[in-house]
Amino acid sequence: MKILLTGVSGQLGAALLDLLAGEHEVIAADRQMLDLSQPASIENAIDQIRPDLIINPAAYTAVDKAETDTETAFAVNALAPQAMARAAKRLQIGLIHYSTDYVFDGSLGTDQPQTGLPAYTETYACNPVNQYGKTKYEGELAIQESQCQHLIFRTSWVYSLHGKNFLLTMLRLANERDHLRVVNDQFGAPTSALSIAQVTQQIVRQLAAAPDKAAWWQQFQGLYNLTNTGYTSWFGFTTAIVQQAGLRGLLNKAAPVLEGIPASDYPTPAKRPVNSRLDTQKIQQAFSVSIPDWQNALAECLDQQHPFASS
Ligand SMILES: NC(=O)c1ccc[n+]([C@@H]2O[C@H](COP(=O)([O-])OP(=O)(O)OC[C@H]3O[C@@H](n4cnc5c(N)ncnc54)[C@H](OP(=O)(O)O)[C@@H]3O)[C@@H](O)[C@H]2O)c1
Repeated sequence: MKILLTGVSGQLGAALLDLLAGEHEVIAADRQMLDLSQPASIENAIDQIRPDLIINPAAYTAVDKAETDTETAFAVNALAPQAMARAAKRLQIGLIHYSTDYVFDGSLGTDQPQTGLPAYTETYACNPVNQYGKTKYEGELAIQESQCQHLIFRTSWVYSLHGKNFLLTMLRLANERDHLRVVNDQFGAPTSALSIAQVTQQIVRQLAAAPDKAAWWQQFQGLYNLTNTGYTSWFGFTTAIVQQAGLRGLLNKAAPVLEGIPASDYPTPAKRPVNSRLDTQKIQQAFSVSIPDWQNALAECLDQQHPFASS
């Protein structure tokens, strides 16, 4: 298939490019080729490229900055996917788009923490608590309203060995400091960009092999949660990062002492949900894919060639 792939400099876009380029004709669109903050130019660009499928991992992901730079976040996260969906509908092609746990307010089950936190299913009502979440939710709605052939994958707490993310920040801090204070009252599934890309690759293979593409889309179109399984807090994630990095010789000094703190001790411009757990049963059943748990995905990620390994 001819695939138009956005966000190729990002965590997920880079992982997708790695996996898909060997199997399909991938048109890798970076910001220079397709600036998503200028949605008016998108439909024309898609008409020129004429892909069979658009995959859109690009997004305005600076959650705190989106509180003030809301117009750009809205253009990239809502208007750009809307334009892609419009083109997809007109050209009768498919659109795979990614969204976020931040479409929820995160209050699910927080009144009964002793029974363990339930996970959000795809049908649960959205109620974003920050501008980033609102713009991503608007993007989902625009795609759904366009009635184009689409898959929307909601993910959470994405990391890789590439770009800016919590894993790389914690690895750096663990090598610099003796004591780290980390939020221990927000919960979710750390998710490796590689896992999201691998599941997407399998689903794209199923689409490519389908003799009747329109029937395939009719059967599978919709919204799916796609995260690594299990859940933890940011503190739990950091504990695992430090342990696993230590085992692989990625720490150049003794492991730091880790201290769990409430989110109220670490104020940020954007509010974050307490419960970010997403239930992944729907995607696993629909496409017969299995998704690694977050600890195994972290190990797999750290086993890749790491920038710190040679220093
Ligand atoms: N990161 C997370 O923790 C997280 C959590 C939940 C959901 N998600 C969702 O998962 C998907 C992938 O996220 P990610 O972590 O891979 O994001 P990322 O690493 O921040 O990458 C974002 C990509 O979008 C591109 N982009 C931003 N503004 C653009 C513009 N105006 N025009 C063209 N490209 C633009 C960036 O290009 P430049 O390099 O040029 O800026 C970059 O390639 C997104 O839909 C995101 O909302 C992420």
